Amino acid sequence: MSSFRTLALATLASLGIAAPALAQEGSVTMGRDIAEEYCVACHDVGADGRFKLDPPSLAAIARYRSADQIRQRIVQPIHASMPRYAEYMIGGNIDDMVAYIVSLEK
Ligand code: HEC
Repeated sequence: MSSFRTLALATLASLGIAAPALAQEGSVTMGRDIAEEYCVACHDVGADGRFKLDPPSLAAIARYRSADQIRQRIVQPIHASMPRYAEYMIGGNIDDMVAYIVSLEK
C-alpha cells in the first residue's frame, strides 16, 4: 500500500503546482466572507480600508502586490506574526481570498 500513498502524495503535489493557474476562478463573495471572519482581527479588510502598512490593509495589498504574490504570502507568510492559513484553508478558499483581495485594487 505504500506505493499507493506515494502516488497520492505526488498527485497532490501536482495539484498544488497547478493551482495558481486557477486563481481567476476564486469567488470574491466567499473571499470577503473569509476576510471578515478571519483576517479582520489584524487587517483592514474593506475596499475603503485605510492604506495601513503594519499589517497592510487588504486594499493596500491589492495595490502593490500581484495575484501571484498575494497567493504566495497567504501560503507562506514572511513573518511568524501572520497565521499560516494554508494549513487549514481548503484549497479553493485560497483562490477565493486572492480573488477578493485583487478585487479591491483601485
Ligand atoms: C494575527 C494577525 C493577522 C491575521 C489574523 C491575518 N494577518 Fe495577514 N499579515 C499580518 C502581518 C503582521 C503581516 C505583515 C507581515 C507578513 O507579511 O507576514 C501580514 C501580511 C499579509 C500579506 C502580505 C502583505 C504583503 O506585504 O504583501 C497578505 C497577502 C496577508 N497578510 C493576507 C491575509 C489574509 C488573506 C488573512 C485572512 C485569511 C490574514 N492575512 C490574516 C497579520 C495577520
